[in-house]
Amino acid sequence: ENPQLLPTPPMGFNNWARFECDLNQTLFTETADAMVSRGLLKAGYDRVNIDDCWPLYERAQNGSLQWNETLFPAGLPWLGNYLKQRGFHFGIYSDAGNGTCGGYPGSLGYEEIDAKTFASWGIDYLKLDGCNVYAKPGQTDEERYEEIYSHWHDIFSHSDNPLIFSESAPAYFAGEANLTDWYTIMDWVPVYGELARHSQDIVVHDSSKHPWDSVMANYDQEVRVAREQGVGYYNDPDFLIADEPNLTFEEKKSHFALWSSLSAPLIISAYIPDLPDETIEYLTNENFIAVDQDKLALQATLVSHDGTWDVLTKSLSNGDRLVTILNNGSGTGTIEVPLSRIGYAGSTQRGWWPGPGSNLQVKDLWTGKVSSLSSQGRNAAIKATVPSHGTASYRISARQG
Ligand code: GLA
Repeated sequence: ENPQLLPTPPMGFNNWARFECDLNQTLFTETADAMVSRGLLKAGYDRVNIDDCWPLYERAQNGSLQWNETLFPAGLPWLGNYLKQRGFHFGIYSDAGNGTCGGYPGSLGYEEIDAKTFASWGIDYLKLDGCNVYAKPGQTDEERYEEIYSHWHDIFSHSDNPLIFSESAPAYFAGEANLTDWYTIMDWVPVYGELARHSQDIVVHDSSKHPWDSVMANYDQEVRVAREQGVGYYNDPDFLIADEPNLTFEEKKSHFALWSSLSAPLIISAYIPDLPDETIEYLTNENFIAVDQDKLALQATLVSHDGTWDVLTKSLSNGDRLVTILNNGSGTGTIEVPLSRIGYAGSTQRGWWPGPGSNLQVKDLWTGKVSSLSSQGRNAAIKATVPSHGTASYRISARQG
């Protein structure tokens, strides 16, 4: 990773999960306009990323990729300018192999020229997918992926304008029963890029798998690799599917709260102009965004996982502590989490909590309400009542009282 390139996880929009190949210039301009007018840009969502299906099937005579002029009549450089004038960055998609997952030209053998072309179009972020990658004789698949992704890394590390490099390689090994290759790949992606898709695609409009199961599957994969994440490199559990009809509102909020707790990329794949106000409201919740964008960029880690309740925690850059509680059970429940049981000892100027003169403040990230735990001393606990598939999050500050 290059910490300067992406000091906190990316936030923005990508068309894929919601629109797949049904994309065009207007979708991106009206999405950007809506992100401005609805406060998403101001909240930090400052990237607009195009996914698959944007190019022509043929490269130009000089070898460069060409945008589809029917879909993008004014051209991608024009779109890039449109976005930049409004305060956004512009991202694009290509594939490490011979072709994209949608069957468009892949970048294999064209790495230098594609990196140059993208930069010349005003693009600063590349999602490099991993369809159609084949090992050479004597090589394992895993080695072939590393060869190609490290080659791109070399190109970017010799470039004056390196692109943010989003690597999809681990996702291609995520479903294997034996995750050995997957762990191997998860160990090298932070070296070469700034983020990596490590799990299968978040499911939308699919009758075979419920989207909530898909959110949970990606979350489960993410919590295995917290050790990889740090400033400049982020594990990517895929898009926020904010207008998916088969998720309840509680599940959508949970998805957002978990991704924020994990300091995951917050890339919305939804039709933003039509999102209900209540959806915009949770997506722009500044308490959660501050946790997602915290300067330490730590991924919250599991302290317990019992089939119903998941409790996660992490340190924040100002010394506060985050506690996030997911109810994955089938009904509303109440849980009490004693702070002493989550490895928490808050420090104050006068010593460690709980000690004389110390005082804990607990902020509920959904409501912003702050309460004090000082009177409960050593037995202080967070008590949360959480609906099925809901998530509660608290920010704990130790202050001198
Ligand atoms: C793969 C990726 C998706 C999307 C599609 C495009 O499935 O994981 O995120 O980019 O390809 O074809």
